[in-house]
Amino acid sequence: MTISDNTPRRWLRRAGEARLEFGADYNPEQWPRAVWDDDVRAMREAGVTIVSLAIFSWARLEPRDGEYDFAWLDDAMDLLHANGISVDLATATASPPPWLTTKHPEILPVTAEGNTLWPGARQHWRPTSPVFRGHALRLVRALATRYADHPALVAWHVNNELGCHNVYDYSDDAAVAFRAWLQERYGDVAALNDAWGTAFWSQQYSDFEEILPPRLAASHPNPTQQLDFKRFSSDALKEHLRAERAILRELTPDVPVTTNFMVMGMKPMNYADWADEVDFVSNDHYVVLPNPQARDELSFSANLTGMLAGGRPWFLMEHSTSAVNWQPVNVPKRPGDLARDSLTHVAYGADAVCFFQWRQSRAGAEKYHSAMLPHAGTESAVFRSVTELGRRLRELAPLAGSVRTLAAVGIVFDWESWWVSEQDSHPTDRVRYRQEALDWYTALLDNGIRADVVPTGGDLEAYRVLIAPVLHVVPAELAARLTRFVESGGHLVTTYFSGIVDENDHVWLGGYPGALRDLLGIRIEEFAPLLDGDTAELDNGVTGTLWTDRIDVVAPEVEVIARYKTGEQASRAAITRRPVGEGSASYVSTRLGAGGLAAVVPSLIGPAGVVSELPPELRGRVELAVRGDHRFLINRTDEPVELPSGTLEPRGVRVVT
Ligand code: GAL
Repeated sequence: MTISDNTPRRWLRRAGEARLEFGADYNPEQWPRAVWDDDVRAMREAGVTIVSLAIFSWARLEPRDGEYDFAWLDDAMDLLHANGISVDLATATASPPPWLTTKHPEILPVTAEGNTLWPGARQHWRPTSPVFRGHALRLVRALATRYADHPALVAWHVNNELGCHNVYDYSDDAAVAFRAWLQERYGDVAALNDAWGTAFWSQQYSDFEEILPPRLAASHPNPTQQLDFKRFSSDALKEHLRAERAILRELTPDVPVTTNFMVMGMKPMNYADWADEVDFVSNDHYVVLPNPQARDELSFSANLTGMLAGGRPWFLMEHSTSAVNWQPVNVPKRPGDLARDSLTHVAYGADAVCFFQWRQSRAGAEKYHSAMLPHAGTESAVFRSVTELGRRLRELAPLAGSVRTLAAVGIVFDWESWWVSEQDSHPTDRVRYRQEALDWYTALLDNGIRADVVPTGGDLEAYRVLIAPVLHVVPAELAARLTRFVESGGHLVTTYFSGIVDENDHVWLGGYPGALRDLLGIRIEEFAPLLDGDTAELDNGVTGTLWTDRIDVVAPEVEVIARYKTGEQASRAAITRRPVGEGSASYVSTRLGAGGLAAVVPSLIGPAGVVSELPPELRGRVELAVRGDHRFLINRTDEPVELPSGTLEPRGVRVVT
């Protein structure tokens, strides 16, 4: 999971020069055959090199149980190949056909409230249904057999966005699979009772058979049951991926297998745990508006995806050329956004830039979602921007295969802390894990400091500074690892609600921040979250919201960087730093937001000797990313920025060698 690891990675099966791939999901089955010829002509004009095919084609490929119709797909594959366009072929299992759900309604997912998710949209299948699995694998086998040697085939695309709509299924199939998963994890029911703390509220189990998914209950369901159900649900979809992959590897061992992640969009999948399951990492990203940090969030997503890929090239499987269709109001992108968004992904290691989708649909739920070829046709600003992007990607071909250069600062990203810190029955339900992490990222960008977003299992030791916002779940080994990091000269910065529980969501006793208390040299007896609208001013001019702590400084060497000036904690420490040999451990006890954090970042990372790699006049205005000997300079503003190499237009990206 890190640049130094040895996980084998495979890129596309393709002969020829290294290049950056460019393309989209292609859904030719939505169009008459005559349109396909126009499609490939326009694809060539735009510089398309690859398309993802057959993602939602199950009903077309298998119109009746066990009866296949491959003629149209043969035709599409041949046409694309004849035009020099490669195919990332989907296994087509994302959306089961009506005959299957009619015959087997028992494959339909069930919500926590007991409602069935009926057919009519997509992804209406239970991840643990043996019936669904059997039918899906039969289709995968048929496709792999038919297209194994097709010269257009360069990669397999398993299903699509696994878990996007069906990750949490509370059906009877899920109950059976959950019990088996728990039995595997705990061995016996006594160990489960212990882990789940079932002495509370008379929940003690005498047999695994008594256990259910956390279905709608009278009050807060058992927190560890909730956590295990989240782990199980991520694992259940990973099992589905593995099952399809096994067939693909058996029949087409030379074709790499991927599936598109949604690293920022989908909290339920623990992608750090999925990353090694694919031959190359793929990700989908959509800009969600309105959001003043929208492009920082895009960068964060690209950054994390690149780290999941071990710093090596990854595949941007989907983003949008302009508006999406699934927000309350869907605004188009502004001039420059399309290129900036795409090239930011490239800056963090994407060697393929693809979109949903090639041709904008005429019918169906996504007809107002932008595409490479919009309703207006090739005579359109979108198509011209697309073509211009294709040209730039060809120019950037020398980047292909280059590895990202690590930063000195790592932001630790931990899926289990994300899950648990936002569960119910907590000191406050206002904690937003992802937003806190993003605020630190923005604060570093505002200071012109490059940072990597690293999963907890990654190579944390490679960094001079580690920022671990809301690192809530800290098992003993992680506490030991962070202690070693600091004792060997590393600088750790953590925040409120960190170090609180172990892997079973049991509180570390003796005072907060539990597992990190001694390392930080502070002790907190009670949490003191803030009510909405309440604030706490600090004596360094920044303002906290959401949370405060009543900190007692315990270790004499602890320096108080800032104190509370107002509110219940007035005069108490708000931000602390404990020097440990050459290293240090710092604690920020309140939510400062991106602006407040930007103001305190220098005092927290300055002592580590980390300085911006940008000249002072560019800091904050320009984002820097480094791939091998290429430096990406991304204009974060809507104003032109003067660079030594000339003016960088608003939202522009310059790649310098
Ligand atoms: C993705 C999905 C695509 C399309 C897209 C629209 O989640 O994989 O099929 O629906 O969203 O933004």
